[in-house]
Amino acid sequence: MTRAIYPGSFDPATYGHLDIIKRAAALFDEVIVGVLNNSVKSPLFSVEERVNILENITGDIPNVKIQAFGGLSVNFAKNCEAKVIIRGLRAITDFEYELQMAQTNRILSTDVDTMFLTTSLQYAYLSSTTVKEAASFGADISKFVPDYVVRQVEAKLSGMNHRK
Ligand code: PNS
Repeated sequence: MTRAIYPGSFDPATYGHLDIIKRAAALFDEVIVGVLNNSVKSPLFSVEERVNILENITGDIPNVKIQAFGGLSVNFAKNCEAKVIIRGLRAITDFEYELQMAQTNRILSTDVDTMFLTTSLQYAYLSSTTVKEAASFGADISKFVPDYVVRQVEAKLSGMNHRK
């Protein structure tokens, strides 16, 4: 059985992430999407909410599982008995950071390799950060994220506005 992990923040997952997940699922027997529980970043969605969003939008892909993780991606890969870390590459601006991370991971664990999938052209501009910013100014984000995510982002932002 070939298994890969796809780690990330997914705050929230976009059509770009979904594109990478679907393509990775076609290449491996099993893909485990790892949602980083990171106490340093302050995400819009809790790790449980991000896991729930991913479970919802990948529910129709049988060989994809969603799991929260903390600590190093290479350790998460080992715990999952995966030898491959999948990352999406959008543009040259991603490359330096991704190369540094892949090389660091390779030194941390020679058993785990990083495999890059280039993001499909129609999603090359897309990021969770711009989606959140656009939504916070009331823009329609339905071209960027699945309907379920649109509803979750709108509910989250309206809850935050009510608390102000
Ligand atoms: O979606 P992101 O924020 O670009 O994902 C980044 C992520 C989660 C893949 C990266 O920050 C990560 O692997 N974090 C866990 C700690 C780690 O393993 N860092 C790399 C080696 S120091």
